[in-house]
Amino acid sequence: MIRKCLFPAAGYGTRFLPATKSMPKEMLPIVDKPLIQYGVEEAMAAGMNNIGIVTGRGKRALADHFDVSYELEHQISGTSKEGMLKCIRKILNECTFSYTRQREMKGLGHAILTGETLIGQEPFGVILADDLCVGEGDGVLAQMAKIYAKYRCSIVAIEEVPHDEVHKYGVIDGSELEDGVYVISDMVEKPSPEDAPTNLAIIGRYILTPDIFDVIRETPPGRNGEIQITDALQIQAKRNMVLAYRFKGQRFDCGSVHGFVKATNHFYEIWKQNEEQV
Ligand code: G1P
Repeated sequence: MIRKCLFPAAGYGTRFLPATKSMPKEMLPIVDKPLIQYGVEEAMAAGMNNIGIVTGRGKRALADHFDVSYELEHQISGTSKEGMLKCIRKILNECTFSYTRQREMKGLGHAILTGETLIGQEPFGVILADDLCVGEGDGVLAQMAKIYAKYRCSIVAIEEVPHDEVHKYGVIDGSELEDGVYVISDMVEKPSPEDAPTNLAIIGRYILTPDIFDVIRETPPGRNGEIQITDALQIQAKRNMVLAYRFKGQRFDCGSVHGFVKATNHFYEIWKQNEEQV
């Protein structure tokens, strides 16, 4: 059973300026919930109630969100608005939150290594909150935890993307082990379409075994001069099995305006149905 989930959340969110000038991008709301809360709920649904967040400068709103707000709660107590905080209270009752700061932005691999102090020597999930996922049945991380229980190795979530978009992602190659599960033979971070081995793109969900930390330490900077988790996983895949899992469900790239609006429309429909039932 995997207990911990790490959220790299130190990035600047430059694609959403000026909205993210003084507000963490993870706090951008999709309808009435910030992006990071969707991620934490997905981790909880996978049984990972021990949440580690890698933050940076200007990210204090994240820690405040996952804490009690006495003044606010006192103000709305006994009113019809009280129910609106119910879902966050459930999270606070069931999860623990720990934080560490990444002082320099040196890539996703570096962010994950910064989280080592929160994880220690156990397997863990990773959620990039910009990738908002809606699972079919189980949430995506819960689907991956089931695969982990069977194979006990690092796993990345993948989806097929159009060929002209492979340059935005880590891309894998591999052989299919069972329906939707691939043994990775190659991985490339943000390849040009000519260099991409396939159009199977990594999305922001990982399950990693703790030996990944030592591997990241020896991974040289790659694409954009940053320490890439894709490169570290490629090294790990040469030593042990690393799997890619084509998840069942839908992903919204909320790091882009296009994906953000699509996610908003999707969750607005759900919100509307709930409103109508009340
Ligand atoms: C990161 C990873 C990339 C992955 C992507 C998923 O890139 O480096 O391999 O495909 O997340 O969202 P970023 O989008 O942070 O540039």
